[in-house]
Amino acid sequence: MAKLGFLFFLCPFLLCSLTHSRSLTQVLHTQTSLLNVSDSIHNTHHLLSFIPTAQEQKEEKQTIPSSSSLSDSFTTSFTLSLHSRDTLHKSSHKDYKSLTLARLERDSARVNSLNLKLDLAIKGIKKSDLKPSEGVSQYVELKEGENLQGPIISGTSQGSGEYFSKVGIGSPPKSQYLVIDTGSDVTWVQCQPCSDCYQQTDTIFEPSSSSSYASVACGTQQCTQLDVSACRNGSCLYQVSYGDGSYTVGDFVTETVTFGDSSKVDKIGIGCGHDNEGLFVGSAGLLGLGGGKLSFPTQVKSTAFSYCLVDRDSTSASTLQFGPSAELTNGAGSSVTAPLVKNHQLDTFYYIGLTGLSVGGEMLTIPPSMFSMDESGGGGVIVDSGTAITRLRTDAYNSLRDAFVKGTKNLPSTSGVALFDTCYDLSSKNSVEVPTVTFHFPEGKTWALPAKNYLIPVDSAGTFCFAFAPTSGALSIIGNVQQQGTRVSLDLGNSLVGFSPNQC
Ligand SMILES: *[C@@H]1O[C@H](CO)[C@@H](O)[C@H](O)[C@H]1NC(C)=O
Ligand SMILES: *[C@@H]1O[C@H](CO)[C@@H](O)[C@H](O)[C@H]1NC(C)=O
Repeated sequence: MAKLGFLFFLCPFLLCSLTHSRSLTQVLHTQTSLLNVSDSIHNTHHLLSFIPTAQEQKEEKQTIPSSSSLSDSFTTSFTLSLHSRDTLHKSSHKDYKSLTLARLERDSARVNSLNLKLDLAIKGIKKSDLKPSEGVSQYVELKEGENLQGPIISGTSQGSGEYFSKVGIGSPPKSQYLVIDTGSDVTWVQCQPCSDCYQQTDTIFEPSSSSSYASVACGTQQCTQLDVSACRNGSCLYQVSYGDGSYTVGDFVTETVTFGDSSKVDKIGIGCGHDNEGLFVGSAGLLGLGGGKLSFPTQVKSTAFSYCLVDRDSTSASTLQFGPSAELTNGAGSSVTAPLVKNHQLDTFYYIGLTGLSVGGEMLTIPPSMFSMDESGGGGVIVDSGTAITRLRTDAYNSLRDAFVKGTKNLPSTSGVALFDTCYDLSSKNSVEVPTVTFHFPEGKTWALPAKNYLIPVDSAGTFCFAFAPTSGALSIIGNVQQQGTRVSLDLGNSLVGFSPNQC
């Protein structure tokens, strides 16, 4: 109230005659957001009682674009449906709290692995200098001199994949659910014969029943672009390690990939993993959507793709789109656009030009260097589909958290949960007004988050936490909790990232 009075007082002295009532409404509009507490709690119950098979049946009826074979680039757009992890894989958690803790543990493993990947790239350590983890070395023949011990962290996490998409692999196509991952490049599926395969929902891919399966010769560009490759009988072998002890290793091959029933792309380089450990339980493998040379969008020469992540507690599906329909025209449409920035040390990650943050309509005083990439390729902000909670450098996080706490003094606070230090007991409320958290980009562009994208339930009893976290590293990550319900477009041709709220 004090602030409104102040604006009214100032107005006669400034040139406020324009449309001051309208601009005041806009200020008020962005200052707070409504969190529907009952609705969020209802979804936590619904998710745990959800029966996944209904979801899969629904997908079979998905309408397929009529485009036929896609030749060397995407001139037609097409769409795949996306599902959140917990709607595909029947939850084994006894309650929502244990589900939350498992999600957060996976998330920390994810962040560590992204940081490790960047670290190695900056230090110029090619992954091929690393000795593959134990049990793998007998499969991959190391070249001479490849004996540096890698910083492979052992881990017991079970899956950083949060969103899945169904694609067909081989001829005739065998349907496989793959984790979508903007933080890595190589697409792979578990393959027979398995020396070690984890449990998956679909039948494990059998190369001998596919007429399009072809090995890749050592020394070809596809093979040498791999971070870790080796040769066996003239054929290319690959290994991808995800930094938390999980890895996949096997033959690097080319296959036909089918979307829906009719859109096919031939000769896509994929990993046929015979030894797969750790992450991704439930899925058949991974769809690499990073910006590197072997990533799926790069291989199919798609100039743009977009994805929309449904609320993770929602049981509905959303979509992943490739092709021109995902392109952004700067300034047009409902998308907020920001520059897409390249890191010359590592082409996998999608960096974004973030300039600031505001809470309740007030800009935080965070030095721009907190968000920018330094000369060595360290720091900066990436948009990632696989990280859940947005990570900010400690000073930026503290300033964001303090402003949010200041604006929520009226709410009953409670003790922190896992990596969250700011939590509230909203069990007695149906809905609450909280300060709006907004990302700011160059040219005055802003992306205001809905309240449910930063105040999330951690149990079914009404405990909600502020869903941001500090990171000790220099890399900041915009996570998928903040992206929920927003269509995120990666327009590679125009170097733009777009955020379109309510476009799932
Ligand atoms: C909260 O959501 C429920 C269910 O979607 C709806 O019936 C109710 O009106 C919403 N409450 C508010 C305050 O928007
Ligand atoms: C290499 O090829 C030979 C002849 O085709 C085959 O007998 C042998 O098993 C192969 N080695 C491996 C490791 O696959």
